[in-house]
Amino acid sequence: MTPATPPGTSTVKKAVIPAAGLGTRFLPATKAQPKEMLPIIDRPAIQYVVEEAVRAGIDDILIITGRGKRSLEDHFDRNFELEYFLAQKGKDDDLTEIRDLAEMADIHYVRQGEPLGLGHAVGVARKHVGDNPFVVMLGDDIMDEQSTVLDGMIGVYEQRGRSSVALKEFPIEEISSYGCARPEPVDDDDGLVRILDLVEKPRPEVAPSNLAVMGRYVFTPAIFDCLDRVAPGVGGEIQLTDAIALLLAEEDVYGYVFDEGRYDIGQKLDYLRATVELAVDRDDLGAEFRAFLAEFVQRRGIG
Ligand code: UTP
Repeated sequence: MTPATPPGTSTVKKAVIPAAGLGTRFLPATKAQPKEMLPIIDRPAIQYVVEEAVRAGIDDILIITGRGKRSLEDHFDRNFELEYFLAQKGKDDDLTEIRDLAEMADIHYVRQGEPLGLGHAVGVARKHVGDNPFVVMLGDDIMDEQSTVLDGMIGVYEQRGRSSVALKEFPIEEISSYGCARPEPVDDDDGLVRILDLVEKPRPEVAPSNLAVMGRYVFTPAIFDCLDRVAPGVGGEIQLTDAIALLLAEEDVYGYVFDEGRYDIGQKLDYLRATVELAVDRDDLGAEFRAFLAEFVQRRGIG
């Protein structure tokens, strides 16, 4: 496994978080609020993503937003009225938490205009990112706090100066929901593969492997020229997978294989898993919640 770069020493300082999608799989909850603001316990999903970036040493975050996404900006902004109220009531812990939230990182926003696909959303970040390596983290994909995937991927960039995508094994019958990689082993690193090809949502019979692309990427700025060359696919969307397929024809692109602790909160079942698994691990709630789950499972005769 590639060693992670110690926090603060990496040259990868920027993250782009696309959060401009319509979230149709979670309607009606996402009719009037962004999917990225759905709460997992007591924090909106995107806060977990921002905290993960900060833990990995990122200090400049660009969130790609769209129509109806104002609450995202408000969430990471100061709220003087609320702070005043909490101070008056002596709720110091809440006050500190609310203030810290606004000071976690340098957060910028740019609007996508029209949700023309994930690739298009990443392309919108070009001016902000400039000629730097950067991370892309999907705003609806969250990792548990112990995850070292992002640190590991940044480590790959530091060692090899190349892009990488996070990959996870799935049962082959589920692979048609994902981008799928054709991998080649990398001699001196067992958690890393070189990607030879990427196919978006293949049928299981023609899938090149059971490794699916997950929502974490580290890119060299060369990805932007590739995005410019991608033709719109199904529904007029510019696919990020297609741009990565062009990139790997020009320079090595690696796959960072991991297995645990990732949730796509845009899917209802994963949303529920995230809520339960993260709650079980919480210092303030875990013990009581575990007791409830044990009693619930027994009462309902589950398992
Ligand atoms: P998804 O495909 O999961 O998001 O994109 P979606 O389109 O909102 O979801 P459904 O299928 O309609 O339920 C992954 C991430 O990319 C962002 C989304 O906000 C999500 O965080 N995205 C997607 C954009 O920023 N712009 C787009 O045009 C599409």
